[in-house]
Amino acid sequence: MIEQIEARGILKGFNDRFRLECSLSLEAGCVHVLIGPNGSGKSTLMRILSLIERPDSGTLIYRGKRQYVDPFSEIELRRRVVLVNTRPVVFRESVLENVLYGLKIRKVSRREALRRAEHALKRVGLYEMRNESATGLSSGEKQRLSLARAIAVEPDVLMLDEPTVNLDPENTGVIEQVILSLKDPERIILFVTHNLFQARKLADQVIFISNGTILEQSSKDRFFVSPETEEARRFIRGELY
Ligand SMILES: Nc1ncnc2c1ncn2[C@@H]1O[C@H](COP(=O)(O)OP(=O)(O)OP(=O)(O)O)[C@@H](O)[C@H]1O
Ligand SMILES: [Mg+2]
Repeated sequence: MIEQIEARGILKGFNDRFRLECSLSLEAGCVHVLIGPNGSGKSTLMRILSLIERPDSGTLIYRGKRQYVDPFSEIELRRRVVLVNTRPVVFRESVLENVLYGLKIRKVSRREALRRAEHALKRVGLYEMRNESATGLSSGEKQRLSLARAIAVEPDVLMLDEPTVNLDPENTGVIEQVILSLKDPERIILFVTHNLFQARKLADQVIFISNGTILEQSSKDRFFVSPETEEARRFIRGELY
């Protein structure tokens, strides 16, 4: 189990045009939402926190039974962290095989993998399509497939980048319920959304980022009722884009 992720003085720049500079902490048992305008660095920060991309400098500490001060070099740890992308890449195989793949590389037995994959597909409403080719799915179905892959892994840390952006209202509701049901005292969850109603519905903690800097990290109630910064007030009113 990972109890906490702490990011200290994380820096990441892209050719002088954009600079992410932030510190924050994520706790198990809590659903965190990361919100902020387009281009503010949400996806970049998520890639770093989920150990996909190293920052230019700064420290990222994963704390569990032991403390990982260089989590990027811990392959076993990285397998317990899943990032669900907005536009997931699927393999040219069946929907079911796409879910099984992540379990195969994690050395889960075939029998257990099948049980978990079928269960995950049922949860996102894709079980009936399990034998169809994944490349033929619509973008919303691919997003649900990608969430099923994540659920099947039973990760300690689950990060979702705009998980409902292409979905219709019914499927959005399904995914929101799945996210809520994945909340667990032993799991860290972080998701990005531009939907402030969704943020209010699902999150315990809000992290607000603007222009590469985290301006607020507070409880949902505090953030939406009395945000501390003018930027956050304008963002909530829909004026900051
Ligand atoms: N690999 C990259 N190479 C160069 N620039 C990048 C790269 N990734 C991100 N950027 C730039 O960094 C900035 C932040 O991008 P990022 O994708 O993190 O923003 P975001 O908050 O996720 O935005 P959105 O809400 O539109 O998804 C943008 O200006 C983007 O163009
Ligand atoms: Mg993004």
